[in-house]
Amino acid sequence: MSWNQELFKQTLDFAARAHGDQKTKTGVPYVVHLVKVATEVLCAADGSFDVDFAMQCALLHDCMEDAGVSHQALAQAFGARVADGVRALSKDDAVGRGNRMDDVLRRIRTQPREVWLVKLADRITNLEPPPPQWDDAKVAEYREEAGRIYEALHGCHAGLAARLQQKIAAYGV
Ligand code: NI
Repeated sequence: MSWNQELFKQTLDFAARAHGDQKTKTGVPYVVHLVKVATEVLCAADGSFDVDFAMQCALLHDCMEDAGVSHQALAQAFGARVADGVRALSKDDAVGRGNRMDDVLRRIRTQPREVWLVKLADRITNLEPPPPQWDDAKVAEYREEAGRIYEALHGCHAGLAARLQQKIAAYGV
């Protein structure tokens, strides 16, 4: 399996600058989350998908939603395909709160399967032990949402789908 290490570094640098000193819910620098998601993608690489495209979408997947990077800026830096993929992975504030994930899943499904795969990799990464401040209802809700992601997108990659299924089964129990 070969992937473009220089492109990885260049994209990571852009993402790290965009997220600045943001932290994840568990209090680590945001870039750690991005590298974990990219690692899921790289470890799943089996020649069946464009690993560099998927890796770029992984590193950049939260930079519109959480760091305010525009589609135009992303397209300028990495091309329209990456910018479109990241936009599909971003929640749309104009959509009602309860419908945002379904809207994201619907838009991801119009994208190449590399984009689907990043959503699986993101949720696999996020199914770490829940933040201590979450109550049982919130944990159950997050697990249920993960099930919907699995249902909508599991067809993109058998290995990642199986990994997500395992993480869901083990989550919060
Ligand atoms: Ni994420």
